[in-house]
Amino acid sequence: MTFRITVRPAERTFEVARDEPILAAAIRAGIGLPYGCKDGACGSCKSRLLEGRVIHGAHQQKALSLAEEEAGLILTCCATPQTDCVIEARMVPGAGEFPVLKMPCRVMGIERAAADVAVLRLQLPANQAFQYRAGQYVEFILRDGSRRSYSMANAPEQLGAPPAIELHVRHMPGGKFTDHVFGAMKEKDILRMEGPYGSFFLREDSDRPIVLLASGTGFAPIKAIIEHMRAKAIERPAALYWGARTRADLYRHEWALQAAQELPWLRYVPVLSEARPDDRWDGRSGFVHRAVMQDLPDLSGHQVYACGVPIMVESAKRDFVASCRLPEEEFYSDAFTSEADKHDA
Ligand SMILES: Cc1cc2nc3c(=O)[nH]c(=O)nc-3n(C[C@H](O)[C@H](O)[C@H](O)COP(=O)(O)OP(=O)(O)OC[C@H]3O[C@@H](n4cnc5c(N)ncnc54)[C@H](O)[C@@H]3O)c2cc1C
Ligand code: FES
Repeated sequence: MTFRITVRPAERTFEVARDEPILAAAIRAGIGLPYGCKDGACGSCKSRLLEGRVIHGAHQQKALSLAEEEAGLILTCCATPQTDCVIEARMVPGAGEFPVLKMPCRVMGIERAAADVAVLRLQLPANQAFQYRAGQYVEFILRDGSRRSYSMANAPEQLGAPPAIELHVRHMPGGKFTDHVFGAMKEKDILRMEGPYGSFFLREDSDRPIVLLASGTGFAPIKAIIEHMRAKAIERPAALYWGARTRADLYRHEWALQAAQELPWLRYVPVLSEARPDDRWDGRSGFVHRAVMQDLPDLSGHQVYACGVPIMVESAKRDFVASCRLPEEEFYSDAFTSEADKHDA
């Protein structure tokens, strides 16, 4: 048995199997709905239910509060329809454009770029043309079936031959996947992955100046977006704000300095929250999104792309919209949610 979902205002329709979340069916049908974690933790897939009934699986209150649920909002990633439904959602042009592929990949390189950051190079099968948009992510499928998401740090134009993706992985002690990356993983290991996923990528139909906001390994998809802009000669003014605790945590600082030197449209502002005396840091300090607000108090004409720890992404959205007049729909983000966030109260 299937139900029919209609998305307004675009008037796109697709079928959802009984017991299947709306988002999973939309991705399969190549319908570009907005989303991030696919797991009820980030809120990116929030949409309005105009007609019909759904049942919500487990999700975080901060992704969808009871009041929002009562007001008719749903998370498409964990809502299964009980009837045909009509939902109101902004379509993301290009999000469903490339096929989602399941494939093996081979570990080509593991570089310790910082004490808790590994830069992985993973070779893809040459016979499966993996396509994605700069900013999107892949999921690793672990032995027990659980999945972990990582954003490509190289643009598709930089895949090389044989094709290889670059990922930036931060160690979360006690974490199922990253304990393995920082422990037993070695070159030539084979991993299973699936992708591309995500609606976090450059909206190329806009000419607004851009703020690229990253914390920690949130730098990965931002780097891919910069590489993509360079490859496509997109010259919209862009300001990269990269926040980290100490100087050593800016694990690709030289890359960013050089990019800003070579690209006249790119400005780079590194921001440290816990600079150490031996960092000899004379740059910006504090919360990275606050540095944006100091420099750009009026964001009404900008577009913001934010990526990294959930607290940074949430604070930036709230404060940019409330205090800097950023239109809410011009804020695009991927929050790096993990098991820890899913078990928060
Ligand atoms: C769209 C997206 C893109 C992402 N891209 C990146 C990226 O490019 N780079 C990157 O570094 N990360 C990224 N992440 C985060 C990444 O997917 C993982 O969540 C992260 O690496 C942790 O995985 P893990 O398996 O090591 O830890 P998990 O097993 O998920 O555990 C995370 C932490 O929570 C603790 N924990 C586990 N279970 C519980 C529990 N029940 N209660 C409380 N605490 C618990 C663990 O001890 C650990 O410290 C992304 C996430 C999303 C959603
Ligand atoms: S809450 Fe649905 S995609 Fe994150």
